[in-house]
Amino acid sequence: MVYDNVVLIGFMGSGKTTVGKSLARQLHKKFMDVDTIIENEQGSSITEIFEDKGEEYFRSLEQKYINELTQKKGQVIATGGGLPIHSVIPEKSLVIYIDADFDVILKRLSTKERDKRPLLQDVARAKGLYHERVNTYKELADFRVDANQSIQTFIHVIFDYILDQRVL
Ligand code: S3P
Repeated sequence: MVYDNVVLIGFMGSGKTTVGKSLARQLHKKFMDVDTIIENEQGSSITEIFEDKGEEYFRSLEQKYINELTQKKGQVIATGGGLPIHSVIPEKSLVIYIDADFDVILKRLSTKERDKRPLLQDVARAKGLYHERVNTYKELADFRVDANQSIQTFIHVIFDYILDQRVL
């Protein structure tokens, strides 16, 4: 299998964006973040889109932009935590699961970062969502990395794995 793109999946706040930026830099690939693209294209924050148009509309945007993005090759793409649950990740994507425990995620996120995420406002519900989703993340992943350590500690594991694969 020759992969067109690297796609990072995982729960909110697991570090996909930070990992993606760093990997893209090291691999000399372009970094793309689906949430940022949605916000730029819509001219609204994720919170505003959820409030004004609803979650279902947001999910349709995720599917649209992941489809569009993957028409191109050679990118490292960070997805929102719900994208692999609600959308189909196009074939020929090397899917990497950034696997952090819920408690670790909560500790990592500042209040400001939590406030940006409508589905993290109620911690008990977010924990339920986390447990609902983890199996799907595992099933979809070509590779899973234990992300309970600092990013600098595990990023080289992903880097080495990607170099062993054939990603354009
Ligand atoms: C969501 C995750 C968020 C963002 C939106 C919904 C989710 O992205 O797409 O708030 O359903 O898990 P991050 O995973 O980057 O926080």
